[in-house]
Formats: sequence, structure tokens, C-alpha cells
Amino acid sequence: MAGELLLELQAVSHVFADGSRGLDGCSLGIRRGSRNALLGANGSGKTTLLLHLNGLLQPSAGCIRIDDCALDYSRSGLTALRRRVGLVFQNPERQLFSASVFEDVSFGPLNLGLDETGVRARVAQALAAVGMAEQAERPVHHLSFGQKKRVCIAGVLAMQPELLLLDEPMAGLDSGMQDELLRILDDLSARGISIVLATHDVDFAYRWADHIHLLAGGRCSASFAASELPQQAATLRAAGQALPAVVQLHRSLVARGVLPAAPVPGSIPQLLAVLAETPAGEPNLDETPSARQRSAT
Ligand SMILES: Nc1ncnc2c1ncn2[C@@H]1O[C@H](COP(=O)(O)OP(=O)(O)OP(=O)(O)O)[C@@H](O)[C@H]1O
Ligand SMILES: [Mg+2]
Repeated sequence: MAGELLLELQAVSHVFADGSRGLDGCSLGIRRGSRNALLGANGSGKTTLLLHLNGLLQPSAGCIRIDDCALDYSRSGLTALRRRVGLVFQNPERQLFSASVFEDVSFGPLNLGLDETGVRARVAQALAAVGMAEQAERPVHHLSFGQKKRVCIAGVLAMQPELLLLDEPMAGLDSGMQDELLRILDDLSARGISIVLATHDVDFAYRWADHIHLLAGGRCSASFAASELPQQAATLRAAGQALPAVVQLHRSLVARGVLPAAPVPGSIPQLLAVLAETPAGEPNLDETPSARQRSAT
């Protein structure tokens, strides 16, 4: 059911072979059907966390639960987990290994033991979802970076996961490709797929996510609804993040009496739309500090 806890990290720590700490007592929950952004500075533990969520890394201490059952790290347990949880790496070169797009995307469904018709149907559906249906026969090494990224997403979608993990999916994409990827993510979340993505981009996290999890020093320093982000300036600062540009700009326009304090727009396009409806030279003074000051006198 939407909103139930799907995955939970309970005080998870991970110590790498060289003694570095990737996670240090990290606790957070992922709700079914939700869009989650992991936000944090370089080295805060985002990638390490994603690698734990599909069992590529195991906790040195603490526990990860899916549907309230501890992850099963046996061979069959991991196979079952990876059917449910798909990970798209930051670097597509790390994920793609077949000669053609079709071969690459069909690898997962073939391993599920589906027959040829079933595999073809899954591949066609996954490639269509990322706008790569026309490129199925192309050699992977001829594709651009953004196209490779789409093929990686298709490879994971072909497994029909419940939870999609993406490590900095926008990195290296031009703005057109970023918009396309946003559309793909919107489609997936409309179909009920839960999404967790790692990002450095607080503006994107604010615009896109339902829930934001702040990572600092290998632990989750705060989890909150994205709509609460404007009230989290101090928490963000402590994790090395600034408020989104749209929130800063909106505050500045409120202080000048141009816009009302509420609602806070979710993105620059939304802010511009509100501004376009505000007549020039006639600032909307309702609920602005200057309006409050005047009514107090
Ligand atoms: N294979 C590894 N061996 C040793 N230490 C590692 C390894 N992978 C990550 N670390 C360490 O774990 C910590 C968390 O790294 P991680 O890659 O999870 O951070 P991140 O938040 O994804 O950073 P970035 O924003 O740079 O991608 C860092 O201190 C890093 O040096
Ligand atoms: Mg990383």
C-alpha cells in the first residue's frame, strides 16, 4: 500500500577493507511509492548507501529490512532482492557490458528464465520507456554518454523492480536530457515504482522529491518531507548544503514586498509563473513583513 515502509536502515555502519568508514550508524526509511533524494557532500556515504540497498555491500554493523524482514544475503536471497531493487550506477561504463543495446537490456530478463517472447516483450517495453526503442540494434560503444545512461536505466527497468536506485542520474547530462530523464522518472513514479536517487543538487531534490534524506559523515542527519525544506536551513548548512536558489530568491522577493510569503514555489519556473501573474509596480503586500509592520502601527 502507498506510504508503507518498504525499506529500512537501522544504525547501519560499513567499514571498507582499508578501514575507511563508508557508513557510520545510518538510519532511514523508504516508503513504498515515494520519491527520495539522498543529499550530501562528497564522501558523505550516498553511493555506499545505495550499494547496501540492493545487497552489493553488506553492513559491518546494523541491519537493513525490506518489508520488515532482514535482508537475506544467501545467493537466492540476493537474486530475489535484485529482482525487486534495481541500481543504476553513476557511470554507465560500469554497468554496460554487452555488444548491442538489445543484448545488454535482455541480460537481466534472460537470467530470470523468461522465454524468448517474454524477454523480447520486456526489452521492448523498457527501451520504449527510455525513448531508445529505435536504437536496439546499435553497438553500445557507439552511443553517447546520455544514451548509455538511458540503456542502463532500461536494463534495470526490464527487471520490473519495485524500487529503483539511481546514483547521481543527472550528472553529465545536458539540460534536454535532464528534462527527458525527469519525464522518465515521473512516468515510473506514476506507475507506483519507488525511487531513491543520490544527488548534490539541492534545487533538483526540492523540485522532484517527496522525501529528502540528508547524509553527513556516513549517517543520515535528517529526513523530512521536501515541502519542509525551506524550514531546514540550519540542518542543511550543517550538512554542507545551501537552501535551493528558488527558496532564496522567493525570500528576497517577499522581503521586498513583491510576493506573499506563502506558498513557496517549488521551482524557478513556478516562481516565474507567480511573478508573471503579479502586476508590475503593484506588489502583493498580503502577508509580507512590510504589510504586517504597517498593520501593527
Ligand atoms: N571501495 C572503497 N574503499 C575504501 N573507502 C571507500 C570505498 N568506497 C567509498 N569509500 C569511502 O567511504 C566514504 C563514503 O563514500 P561514498 O562514495 O559513499 O560517498 P558519496 O556520498 O557517494 O560521495 P560523492 O558525492 O563523491 O559520490 C568516503 O569517505 C569514501 O572515501
Ligand atoms: Mg557517490
